[in-house]
Amino acid sequence: MVDVEAFIQSPEHRPKSSIIIAEGIPLIDLSPINYKDTTSSLSIETLVKEIGSACKEWGFFQVINHKVPLDKRERIEECAKKFFGLSLEEKVKVRRDEVNLLGYFEAEHTKNVRDWKEVYDFNVQQPTFIPPSLDQNLHFQWDNRWPHIPPQFREACEEYAEEVEKLAYKLMELIAMSLGLEPNRFRDFFIHNTSNIRLNHYPPCPYPHLALGLGRHKDTGVLTVLAQDDVGGLQVKRKSDGEWIQVNPIFNSFIINVGDMIQVWSNDAYESVEHRVMVNSEKDRFSIPFFLKPALYTDVKPLEELTDDRNPPKYSPINWGKFRTARMQSNFAKSNIDNLQI
Ligand code: SIN
Ligand code: FE2
Repeated sequence: MVDVEAFIQSPEHRPKSSIIIAEGIPLIDLSPINYKDTTSSLSIETLVKEIGSACKEWGFFQVINHKVPLDKRERIEECAKKFFGLSLEEKVKVRRDEVNLLGYFEAEHTKNVRDWKEVYDFNVQQPTFIPPSLDQNLHFQWDNRWPHIPPQFREACEEYAEEVEKLAYKLMELIAMSLGLEPNRFRDFFIHNTSNIRLNHYPPCPYPHLALGLGRHKDTGVLTVLAQDDVGGLQVKRKSDGEWIQVNPIFNSFIINVGDMIQVWSNDAYESVEHRVMVNSEKDRFSIPFFLKPALYTDVKPLEELTDDRNPPKYSPINWGKFRTARMQSNFAKSNIDNLQI
């Protein structure tokens, strides 16, 4: 029996019945970097400016003409549907456990309230490079666990990961340029990256006004590249007035958002923004975020080029490995950048 109580949000965090649709979330056309020979009237300079203002004003934007092949996206989406359609008995064969944090999980919580969803996680780079400096007593592992059904699951995931990772790196170049940095300024942080992909399934929920598919949160990593299906439900907290704004699904687009680590590197020029997912009583919803994350040994701190006497660093260095393991141990104080401000 499912304990329904565990899913109920406190009244101030329940979704409102009136929904504000996001006209304001910028839609950005990436053809200047991807289709250079075509008649695109946009210049790279304009694109960089658009990305910079989207990061500043929203922390969120959508992209089209991104060059991730649609067939690869459709293939992983199909595999996700098939996998989540299996019996619980079958799915728990690849269940996350105390030691290995990758695989299937049906009981995610956000801020101590259970989310109305099930997930499957895999890391993009294997094996995950674990530096000796990370406390050996932690005994965490990140080893992908691949289900055998459907049989093409692993291949579909790996092929999609390769494409979406390329897009994430291109976006990081544009973001670097928008901050006045060299395009490859961030490249070395990802040599031993800990990026992961999550498959999300939000089943229909009989209590859509009380529960959430995913409670309010900010993404702790660097950048998120999210594929959502056509059902809708993602909401972003608008910076200007704190209203929850629905992000309308656009066919074959990706939603991009700034994570905590960009906030730290940019010394708050670009802030990571709260978002959440509403559920509905009729439709299943599927989404696939790619979370770009640095190497575990990375010390993330405001970049020297972006700080000076008038704009001193706002954060002490954050070791990504320690930050991430604190989160895994549910030590939210140590995995919240607000507590690491100087
Ligand atoms: C997430 O915030 O990680 C997922 C959002 C979504 O499912 O749309
Ligand atoms: Fe998120």
